[in-house]
Amino acid sequence: MNNQAAQISLKALIALVFSVFICSNSLNAQDGEKLFKQNCAVCHSAHTDQMSTGPGLKGVFDRVPKGDWITKWIINNEKMIKGGDAYATKIYAQYGKAAMTVFEGQLNEKDVAAILNYIKTPPVVVAAAGGNASADSTEPSEKTNGIDPLFLILGFIVVLIILLASLRSVRTSLQNSNNRSERIDEIPEQTFWQEVKEWITGNRRLVGVFVIIISFIGMKSCWNACYNIGVYYDYKTQKGYKPEQPIKFSHKLHAGENEIACQYCHSSVEKSRHAGIPSVNICMNCHKAIQKGPQYGEKEIAKIYAANGFDPKTATYDNSIQNPLKWIKVHNLPDHVYFNHSQHVVVGKIECSTCHGNLKEMTVAEQKVPLTMKWCIECHRKTEVVMEGNAYYDRLHKALKEKYAGVQDVKFTVEKIGGLECGKCHY
Ligand code: HEC
Ligand code: HEC
Ligand code: HEC
Ligand code: HEC
Ligand code: HEC
Ligand code: HEC
Repeated sequence: MNNQAAQISLKALIALVFSVFICSNSLNAQDGEKLFKQNCAVCHSAHTDQMSTGPGLKGVFDRVPKGDWITKWIINNEKMIKGGDAYATKIYAQYGKAAMTVFEGQLNEKDVAAILNYIKTPPVVVAAAGGNASADSTEPSEKTNGIDPLFLILGFIVVLIILLASLRSVRTSLQNSNNRSERIDEIPEQTFWQEVKEWITGNRRLVGVFVIIISFIGMKSCWNACYNIGVYYDYKTQKGYKPEQPIKFSHKLHAGENEIACQYCHSSVEKSRHAGIPSVNICMNCHKAIQKGPQYGEKEIAKIYAANGFDPKTATYDNSIQNPLKWIKVHNLPDHVYFNHSQHVVVGKIECSTCHGNLKEMTVAEQKVPLTMKWCIECHRKTEVVMEGNAYYDRLHKALKEKYAGVQDVKFTVEKIGGLECGKCHY
């Protein structure tokens, strides 16, 4: 009898070991995906040609030079641009000199190979439940692809408990048939839940460990949910938002073809937290004279005049008319988030295009990045603070250098100066 029970638990054990093996294997296969999400997804879409900060990487192997060019580029693109590599300098110029992160020291060639493998593999499209499919316009299918390994562990524990409980009930009935034949009193048959309860009382310590694991999983997923706010909840991700504006104002025409500096119109971007949207008066600096556009003739520019009562025929203003243009805001952070342009543009020396894409190519302004907490944090984890020759940091830099003296290869990322502290971004 006992033999039979032992055999059952042996089978269970084999099944367990086998499923652990499968799980860990599938985790390995996801490494490239994980690395991509951690390092590249902020700026690239892996399997579409959708432009965000960097180009979509669909079909990238057909356009880049053959051989190990792509590996070298990913590890240190700056070196290649500075070295004058033809294709590198070409795409750098083409994407508005938006700088890609340098991964030297963070990713080795094996990591890059895994990432490239992931880019090469077209995503398995898993039918997403509900309205989730269009959640993140970059990688609609990737999100639904992998199961969180923590849920695997959780599932595992549940299966284990069920298994153990049913083993006990098997044992009880075996014991009973034995008892019956030997005319001993039968142990009462118990319901499944009674079995579970009994097992739990009998294995307090083990249960304690499970409880700790489960609460850890709970906390971890809460943290993940926080960290991904706006990625998992599609009603929040506004990436790709491109509202029709009251006037057909084109950045491509103004900032691109006519090379008007961003600061000419967004004049407070270096001085305050807001970049600011220009008032009609700024438009009038030029449009008093420029009364006709290349595409819409007088029609669109007439709306500027209607806004402040300008009569182009007599070149006079009717001061009783004041209808400020009602621009629709493209980028919207919730009120509890504090973001400061001058901190990023002047102190951090980050290009506009890193966060806004290349406006010089856009006829209609569009939100090119997710603007989620994850997006902010990933950049803060990776980006090194420009301290050398940055007056703002003279004292701090000295202090940090002393603190980390003797430690090799320290990177003074934004994280190190406190860029992940909740209070820095939240009121
Ligand atoms: C901070 C944003 C950013 C991050 C992070 C980033 N890239 Fe880029 N990447 C760019 C930009 C911008 C370009 C376009 C060239 C330029 O302006 O330097 C680019 C270009 C590329 C190209 C060439 C594309 C083409 O069409 O020729 C490849 C390949 C590439 N990146 C791969 C990666 C991989 C892999 C990672 C992650 C390990 C990564 N990038 C991380 C911004 C980024
Ligand atoms: C001639 C004036 C002008 C110039 C030059 C200009 N912009 Fe704008 N920008 C505007 C106006 C007007 C709006 C509001 C209408 C719109 O969203 O298109 C705007 C909107 C924007 C927005 C979206 C704001 C929002 O609502 O979230 C961004 C981002 C932006 N500009 C960045 C830039 C960058 C970067 C440059 C330089 C490459 C630039 N702009 C050059 C006038 C200008
Ligand atoms: C520094 C000069 C300058 C400023 C400031 C400026 N524009 Fe322009 N705008 C131009 C030029 C140059 C053209 C193109 C004229 C041409 O090519 O014939 C133009 C064309 C236009 C057109 C016509 C588009 C078409 O295709 O028909 C519109 C609409 C327009 N601007 C709106 C605005 C608005 C709104 C503002 C203020 C937010 C503004 N502009 C500020 C220089 C300026
Ligand atoms: C580190 C990322 C980052 C950089 C760099 C950056 N912006 Fe922004 N920008 C944002 C965010 C985030 C918002 C949304 C702010 C909000 O809703 O409060 C925004 C909003 C804007 C707006 C809308 C008006 C406003 O002030 O909220 C304009 C215009 C704008 N940016 C222009 C620029 C220009 C021009 C540059 C370069 C000189 C630039 N940005 C650089 C992240 C950035
Ligand atoms: C492209 C990279 C990048 C992105 C995206 C980015 N930041 Fe930053 N952020 C920086 C850098 C670099 C600094 C350091 C600037 C400096 O030297 O003070 C910084 C600094 C800050 C600081 C000051 C931190 C401190 O300790 O003084 C705050 C607050 C902040 N960022 C908020 C945000 C928020 C909110 C977002 C998202 C809406 C965001 N950032 C997105 C690069 C980024
Ligand atoms: C670098 C900036 C940054 C830091 C640091 C940061 N957050 Fe956030 N957080 C954001 C941004 C941006 C959003 C808005 C995301 C959105 O609307 O999609 C946000 C949203 C949230 C929300 C969601 C509120 C809502 O609107 O639903 C919570 C909760 C939150 N953060 C908690 C935290 C906690 C806790 C910490 C510290 C561990 C923290 N944040 C640190 C930038 C930051």
